[in-house]
Amino acid sequence: MSSKEWLYSYCPEKVCTAEEALQHVKRGNRVFLGTGCGEPQHLIRTMVGAPGLHDILLYQMLSYTLAEFVDDPNFTRNFSLKLFFVTSVMRKAAFEGKIDYIPAYLSQIPKLFRRGQIGLDVALVQVSPPDAFGYCSLGVSVDITKAGMESADIVIAQVNENMPRTWGNTTVHVDDIDYFVLKNEPLITGTPEAFDPHILERIGMYVTQLVDDGATIQIGFGRLPHGIVGYLNQKNDLGVHTQLVTEGFLPLFKNKVITNSRKTLLRGKTVASLCMGGPALYDYVNDNPQFEFRPSGFVSDPTMIALNDNMTAISSALEVDLTGQVCMDSLGYMFYSGIGDQVDFLRGSAMSKGGFSIIALPSTARGGLVSRIVPNLSAGAGVATTRGDVNFVVTEYGIAELQGKSIYQRVMELSQIAHPDFREELIEVAKDRHYIFADQLPPSTDDLLFVEEYKSMYEMRDGKVVKFRALLPSDEFAFRNFFYSLQEQTVYNRFFRRIKLFSHELAQQQWADLDYHDNVSLVGLTRTKGHREIVAIGSYAKAEDGYAEVAFVVKEDFQNKGIASYLIARLADIAKKNGFKGFKAIVLDTNASMLHLFRKVYPNAKYELLPNKHYDITMDFDGSPYINVES
Ligand SMILES: CC(C)(COP(=O)(O)OP(=O)(O)OC[C@H]1O[C@@H](n2cnc3c(N)ncnc32)[C@H](O)[C@@H]1OP(=O)(O)O)[C@@H](O)C(=O)NCCC(=O)NCCS
Repeated sequence: MSSKEWLYSYCPEKVCTAEEALQHVKRGNRVFLGTGCGEPQHLIRTMVGAPGLHDILLYQMLSYTLAEFVDDPNFTRNFSLKLFFVTSVMRKAAFEGKIDYIPAYLSQIPKLFRRGQIGLDVALVQVSPPDAFGYCSLGVSVDITKAGMESADIVIAQVNENMPRTWGNTTVHVDDIDYFVLKNEPLITGTPEAFDPHILERIGMYVTQLVDDGATIQIGFGRLPHGIVGYLNQKNDLGVHTQLVTEGFLPLFKNKVITNSRKTLLRGKTVASLCMGGPALYDYVNDNPQFEFRPSGFVSDPTMIALNDNMTAISSALEVDLTGQVCMDSLGYMFYSGIGDQVDFLRGSAMSKGGFSIIALPSTARGGLVSRIVPNLSAGAGVATTRGDVNFVVTEYGIAELQGKSIYQRVMELSQIAHPDFREELIEVAKDRHYIFADQLPPSTDDLLFVEEYKSMYEMRDGKVVKFRALLPSDEFAFRNFFYSLQEQTVYNRFFRRIKLFSHELAQQQWADLDYHDNVSLVGLTRTKGHREIVAIGSYAKAEDGYAEVAFVVKEDFQNKGIASYLIARLADIAKKNGFKGFKAIVLDTNASMLHLFRKVYPNAKYELLPNKHYDITMDFDGSPYINVES
């Protein structure tokens, strides 16, 4: 028996035309509409054309079909749109004041319906045909649809054979639906618009550096987050716990990058509540047990998100101010998107063991004319994601880590990843506001993409890993903490004097010449209790005659594990590329370890013992004959 025949035999009185069903919508009713690609398009179009409908309030999450009508005064006279999110097709109408935006956390919207804070009279939804037991599936739009149906007095469902049947908490029994309108039509397709490939590639690279194998990822709404998905293709065993699955996920599923095998909540399952894509995606999720579609009240509940170890939330923003306040739902006074689930996922990931969040955004807008890292948010811009929620911020110029950092540190982190044209201006404003020291040097105005090549990883003899990267101005606090953690003798061997104070001024001297070509410092970091700490610094600085002076310092409990040996090789690679012919070093004659190391790596080095018992060592990269001038 076909599902159509089944419906006619089980509940013939409920099967009707859209026109008949919509007669149950009355003047003044509050009507819930199914979400996004699961919208009941036929019901919506019929409702708009139905005679006698006045003062109808329409509640919806992601709205597409109604975009056809928003410019028609007849429509706006009779229907008011209350949207939880402004989709791209609705943006113009929102700017023109034709839409009333409801700012609400996605996790909370089902409760607003259930508690009657947003009362609903009718729900118009789309479902798959029922199975032999009378269960229809909400398919690609489970999100807030279930709560909308359960809270409305009357439920009218468009039964569409093109709606996939999805696994999870997605089914509704025909007994819970009042009217069925049988109408097949293609589902709405939605592929996020292409993003500037150059910026996307760079942001993708930085985000990829942060995402660990085995992490469970969330991808927020918007074309940038969904563009980033493609860059995760080198990862292994990712899990997914997210609101929206788009077509960009398909290669990761098919290539087994996403296996969900290391998830700690619903292992083996891709947890989501919505799909947005085309037939390829809809076919893939159809009857696929890999998916666990659940309502938004579950998916976006921070306490559920937190049950995923290593939860990594990736979303986007419109503007971020120098203190870390994030605006993502309005462009100034104009409502642009929605609060959605960013805060839900930022909080959930912060509570997850090993979890964290990333907000990615291009550094500029309007063709590079304005910075998106701003001294203060635009007038009218709203803050849903507070300074206290934000963790990593990524632009095409790098990664800023803000969690637990002071305003001073945030300014340095964020101005460093702003577009080079805006960095000095941001620093100047921050000085005026006394956010940073008046003598603070601005970050380099160069595009530091090339320092990505300075990144590397070294596995120590005990198997632990040290990650190396260029020292950045934002490292000032970590830099001072590192030096204060060292023993007096270690500091003496490095600087040949007793230094008691690693002040801001000293750090500034360090940055003053840092240009990443003639003057390079690499820091080695290890993970300690969830955060990275500096355990080694190796530097070279331009000296005379084509040489660079090199120096190292390694934290005592990390010494004799090969770190300095590795650093010498890395610094030599960089120095060679920057045209140096060799290193020079000054070493105390009692520094057996350093002398041993230089001898090992540069057996042909020249040694000159100076009267103050220091060796002046010259090491040629091309291997000059070993002349021992020790006396
Ligand atoms: C010198 C220093 C940078 C070396 O760093 P490190 O990461 O421990 O170096 P490595 O582990 O790569 O190599 C150390 C080598 O010295 C050897 N060594 C250690 N103590 C030694 C000693 N008393 N006599 C001879 N060799 C010694 C180790 O065995 C090792 O050699 P190996 O690899 O052949 O076994 C570190 O000890 C340090 O930070 N010291 C204080 C600051 C300093 O002296 N800086 C130098 C100023 S240029």
